[in-house]
Amino acid sequence: MTAVRHATGTKGFSSESDTRIFGMEEGFGAHHYDRIGLVVRQAKGCWLIDEKGNRYLDCLAAYSAANPGHHHPEITRAAMDALTGNYASVLSNVVYSDPLGVFLSKAAEFAPQMGPRFGNHGNKVLPKNGGVESVETAIKTMRYYGYKQKGIKDGDQEIIVFNNNFHGRTISVVSFSTSEKYRQGFGPLTPGFVSVEFGNLDAVKAAINKNTCGILVEPLQGEGGMKVPPAGFLKGLRQLCDDHDLLLVADEIQVGMGRTGKKFCFEHEDIVPDGVILGKALSGGLVPLSVFITNARIMDMVFTKGSDGSTFGGYPLACVAGTASLEVFENEKLAERSAKMGAILKEKIEQVATRSPHVKEVRGKGLFIGIEVKEGNAMDFCRKLLNLGMIVNDSHGHTIRISPPLVINEEEIDYMVERLEKVLIDN
Ligand SMILES: Cc1ncc(COP(=O)(O)O)c(C=O)c1O
Repeated sequence: MTAVRHATGTKGFSSESDTRIFGMEEGFGAHHYDRIGLVVRQAKGCWLIDEKGNRYLDCLAAYSAANPGHHHPEITRAAMDALTGNYASVLSNVVYSDPLGVFLSKAAEFAPQMGPRFGNHGNKVLPKNGGVESVETAIKTMRYYGYKQKGIKDGDQEIIVFNNNFHGRTISVVSFSTSEKYRQGFGPLTPGFVSVEFGNLDAVKAAINKNTCGILVEPLQGEGGMKVPPAGFLKGLRQLCDDHDLLLVADEIQVGMGRTGKKFCFEHEDIVPDGVILGKALSGGLVPLSVFITNARIMDMVFTKGSDGSTFGGYPLACVAGTASLEVFENEKLAERSAKMGAILKEKIEQVATRSPHVKEVRGKGLFIGIEVKEGNAMDFCRKLLNLGMIVNDSHGHTIRISPPLVINEEEIDYMVERLEKVLIDN
């Protein structure tokens, strides 16, 4: 094993020991994450490497941000070319740039025609940085649509969301979280959201009133415990939105871009929403990039000059990485790969589950698999798995979340399953 520390003088990295790095993070950083005590010195493909050269199979992939694997060579090369070609710096948004134009056209065509009931106008794309910013864009869009198109009094618009949702951490977005911890003490919260049980169409129906303008849904809940809704749920939402003239927006930040074995998770129910939010893997995990994509008619209705903006949203480096990442997605058939590898992995995990005293349920689609444990202490198992060289964490306390990079191979799957056997059966 070769020790991996960065040479003194490598800007922004450190040749210091792990203990010193812990000290810096704990001493100077906010304590808003529950760390598992590993300092990662390198990341490549499906693997993370610590200072001693120990390798860890990354079965989390930064919650889908590293779908194409860490430092995918083509995405990394595109970003390096942009940097060395002096074209990666941020630009004032009064000028046009070819990376933005190229990326927007690619992203618009990446999604099927959003909101086909509004006509075949093509899609338009609004780029931002972190995922939650595009969630905010989607909220603005639904509210404005309600105001302008449906005549709802401005300020009275309501959006239906789901219990145990996770859409990010801005004030407006945590305002409709059902997790106390995300909200408590951060008031005053943003009104205009109604949360109902995930998967329950009757509850959605009952929540619709004259002020409802849209429904925001994760087609499969990630942070909420890797929850798959009952079959027909998304189709039912589509129908309700058509019947009541509401905008249906799918948050595919975590489950889109092949994660569940389809390009978009909503395709599992053969529906098309009116808008979709993408982030994380959109730029191959190299730089922040997120988008809200909707029917061109809706985008042009909602956003006019001066009504929105972001300094870094759609800046050249992010766009170049985004374009490269969309190409890698298509060329390497990552959705198909996720379906194939996910089926192999899920079958093996189900076999482990039948022999394990700890497993309550295995669920998920593609390479998005949750193992719910009976004792409700998934993190205990995650810590044991870390000691055996694989990185996972819990979702909602009770479920081990498995979501490796989509480029994982069968040998790596076997490595993972061997370790799951050790902690779930032999333990
Ligand atoms: C479904 C979903 N929506 C929104 C977000 C927020 O994205 P970001 O952390 O990039 O702001 C996340 C992040 O985990 C997510 O999983």
